Amino acid sequence: MVLGVFATSSFVTIAGCSKSGSDSTIDRKHPGYAVYRKYCRSCHQGGLANSPIFGNAEDWEPRIAKGRDVLLENTIKGMPPGMPKKGLCTGCTDEELEDAIDYMIQALDVEQSSELNSEQPAESQD
Ligand code: HEC
Repeated sequence: MVLGVFATSSFVTIAGCSKSGSDSTIDRKHPGYAVYRKYCRSCHQGGLANSPIFGNAEDWEPRIAKGRDVLLENTIKGMPPGMPKKGLCTGCTDEELEDAIDYMIQALDVEQSSELNSEQPAESQD
């Protein structure tokens, strides 16, 4: 077992969010909640047509790996045949769609979402 000396030089905080109160995946105050409920849930709650399931990290991991921009773009354009344009919320702004995506992503493990937020350089492209 190799323990690096460098480990002592910096303090690594793994704690993540200090959520007090509820740890439920249902966050009604999230800006994406309403849109998700109304439009996305019909498919994403149960994985209809092979959609990535709400709260299922395994389903979302490869999607998240593409980057949020790609997810948003695919949501706006749709992913035929399963994922309709704008997830059927044709009146949604890009921002609202992004919030809805965010809502689905934040429902995953804290571990997952903190990874996403720290944008680890998986592949570095110049
Ligand atoms: C009619 C069913 C349906 C609805 C409604 C729907 N989705 Fe989807 N969604 C899918 C399916 C199916 C896929 C998987 C598509 C694929 O991989 O080919 C998907 C994939 C996605 C992805 C992953 C995209 C990627 O690049 O992998 C995101 C993000 C997403 N949906 C967001 C949303 C949002 C946000 C809403 C609501 C505004 C929504 N979806 C509504 C069926 C739906």
